[in-house]
Amino acid sequence: MTLSELIPTLGESLRGRLEPGIWPLSTAHGVDGDLLLGGVPLTQLAARFGTPAYLLDEATVRRHCRDYRSALPDVEIAYAGKSMTSRGVLRWIAEEGLSLDVCSAGELAVARSIAFPASRIVFHGNVKTPEDLKAAIGYGVDRIVVDSLDEIEQLGALARYPQNVLIRVTPGVDAHTHKAIATGVEDQKFGFSLASGAALDAVGRVLAQPSLRLVGLHCHIGSQVSRVASFEEAARRMVGFLAVLQIRYGITLPQLDLGGGHAVPYRPGDPSFDLRGYADRLLRAVNYECSSHRLPLPRLTIEPGRAIVGSAGVTLYRVVTVKHGTSRTFVAVDGGMSDNPRPSLYGARYSVRPVGRHFSPISHPATVVGRHCEAGDVLAEDVPLPADLRPGDLLAVPCTGAYHHSLASNYNMVGRPPVVSVRDGAARLLVRRETEDDLLSRDLG
Ligand code: LLP
Repeated sequence: MTLSELIPTLGESLRGRLEPGIWPLSTAHGVDGDLLLGGVPLTQLAARFGTPAYLLDEATVRRHCRDYRSALPDVEIAYAGKSMTSRGVLRWIAEEGLSLDVCSAGELAVARSIAFPASRIVFHGNVKTPEDLKAAIGYGVDRIVVDSLDEIEQLGALARYPQNVLIRVTPGVDAHTHKAIATGVEDQKFGFSLASGAALDAVGRVLAQPSLRLVGLHCHIGSQVSRVASFEEAARRMVGFLAVLQIRYGITLPQLDLGGGHAVPYRPGDPSFDLRGYADRLLRAVNYECSSHRLPLPRLTIEPGRAIVGSAGVTLYRVVTVKHGTSRTFVAVDGGMSDNPRPSLYGARYSVRPVGRHFSPISHPATVVGRHCEAGDVLAEDVPLPADLRPGDLLAVPCTGAYHHSLASNYNMVGRPPVVSVRDGAARLLVRRETEDDLLSRDLG
């Protein structure tokens, strides 16, 4: 390597390269070791909103919506609200022309409060209580995805007008993801098995309900899935089943919802999801299978959640203590498993970046731990952090836009962090921090 090649590399590594795909698109270097998000310095956001705080880059969310719409112009893109629901985010989703997948009366209430069009809502879930079903029917959601024989009866009894229904099918496809989020394989709680004939029976049961109108099938093989081949295989099996239904029941279902689950990288080197490749291979698979079964092309829906909001989010923590253990350094921050249970639930790994001042170029492996009373409350294991890291420093953890705010809890009576959106140099509080008064207000003594 020549000197001129070496100098920029050194410069970059001193400032710490921003790995593409992991940080929000608007992330930029600021002065004195700061980072800018949506044009706003992280130090300023920490001072104004406190820590821990979930930050969300509006431009990244909107960019991802547009990428999906342009890669799949004829496919309905339904944002999976379970990944991150707030009024602000659902407004962006609605404005970008996406549809919405909700899975509880609560998520629906947020959608309803911003008048998200009912004609673009799909309602899911393996359990829908009578309250969930009534809320869905009451708002007139376009499609309800039925998940059990009992639910078919219950919905059939409650529906006033013919309610559009999709049947959730388990296609028996291994998505090669963590077992807690693999939902396409046999013998688990979601859907009706294709292989066992349960899905075929479910179709008969829906057809027998006068208040239900069967419009299509649904599947979701899992989450954080990077292998396009798994989605292709599921699509093939689902179209094959549409063909079976034509023969067995003489029906041609017009819709096929192939779920979400598209992976995002959390750390450099993690596999990323090839959206264009997925679009191309999925459409080819569906076209090919339909033409070989002489079926008309169904209207397709997909339901990405994480891929829309995951890399738009950064969580900002403040270091509270630095403890040198016998074999490693523990950096303890003011958040933890209550704002991010993903490492303990799925063994998820994150990268961590100190921000807000110039740090020593010498780094040591450290374990970033939370404030909760469990040894398993670890946010990031064995991450390189500067040798001079000290209490009061800020740590930014990227790729926290999906399943962080939505999975947060009050464990140890710690209030949940605020959600702050940034755009064009301005920050807006989308969800305020949970206070002790909030916590006490539910406790009636
Ligand atoms: N559609 C259905 C029916 C789903 O169940 C899910 C996610 C999605 C779409 C969206 O999946 P996505 O594109 O966001 O991967 N808490 C876990 C993820 C659970 C996913 C549940 N279902 C995590 O933090 O990784």
